[in-house]
Amino acid sequence: MVTHSYHNNVTLITGASSGIGEALAYELAGQGACLALAARRVESLEAVAARCRELGGQAVAIRADISQQTDCERLVQETIEAYGRLDTLVNNAGITMWARFSDLNDPALIEQIMKVNFLGAMYCTYYALPYLQQHEGRIANISSMADKLITPGNTGYVASKHAMEGFFEALRAEVAEAGVSVTMLYLGFVDTGFAGRMLDKEGKVSSGIAAQLWQTKQMSPADSARLIARATYQRKRTVYTHVDGWPGWIFPWFKLLMPRYLEKIGKGFMDAGGI
Ligand SMILES: NC(=O)c1ccc[n+]([C@@H]2O[C@H](COP(=O)([O-])OP(=O)(O)OC[C@H]3O[C@@H](n4cnc5c(N)ncnc54)[C@H](OP(=O)(O)O)[C@@H]3O)[C@@H](O)[C@H]2O)c1
Repeated sequence: MVTHSYHNNVTLITGASSGIGEALAYELAGQGACLALAARRVESLEAVAARCRELGGQAVAIRADISQQTDCERLVQETIEAYGRLDTLVNNAGITMWARFSDLNDPALIEQIMKVNFLGAMYCTYYALPYLQQHEGRIANISSMADKLITPGNTGYVASKHAMEGFFEALRAEVAEAGVSVTMLYLGFVDTGFAGRMLDKEGKVSSGIAAQLWQTKQMSPADSARLIARATYQRKRTVYTHVDGWPGWIFPWFKLLMPRYLEKIGKGFMDAGGI
């Protein structure tokens, strides 16, 4: 059944220049959304915006580095200037790493990841919230099943997604009275090439550094976009996807009841990933 839940819905998506954010932009454009698309690579962003307009949506491309507080503020301002309101914020932009903590040249790499994945989402939410509260808006946060597994080699990434979880669970309870919903999406592997952009121990993008980890079954970006759109519209609290055929919701139970088993799986990944 075709639904057009996002018709005229003003939606701000961070990290819309590629991958899941790009696919979500196309999904929502097809439903007639008014999109504000943010990322650093402005040419890619302009191309995504043009495609969104072909698909029937409205779209503006806004260059923003969300690790910068001032960019997050300007991003929301420019969205309001373009459309006059904001209904949905999707905190999707993210970066990741693949290195043992003790091997890092500089532990500030962890700070860099926190600044994008957690603080960027927090700042965007801070500036968006007054507008979201005017219209019972929606916030969607793209987290990872890495947050629910035990994933050595990925310390900074997991820390950033844990921070996101704690922050947005507390915020959900604060904003419920204003009718604003917070949806947490814990995604398994999605076929976006994210593994090819992992930061190595020197903080450099190392293509394919852990590509073998991504050999497992992956969700397509389009499928993940449909899932995000539906769950956010329905104001779901929490959504898990599958990992290697296992339903994602089972892993928090595994962590509670069999942490050593999960740790063993994580160490296996680390060995396979050559770090
Ligand atoms: N792929 C997976 O298997 C998977 C699984 C679970 C969760 N996720 C999550 O899904 C989200 C999207 O990842 P993806 O797989 O679609 O990878 P991706 O294609 O690399 O997308 C990441 C997006 O974030 C943007 N970004 C990175 N740093 C930024 C910054 N400082 N300011 C603004 N935008 C920034 C990138 O754009 P620019 O480079 O143009 O700035 C890009 O549009 C991430 O939060 C990731 O943690 C991915």
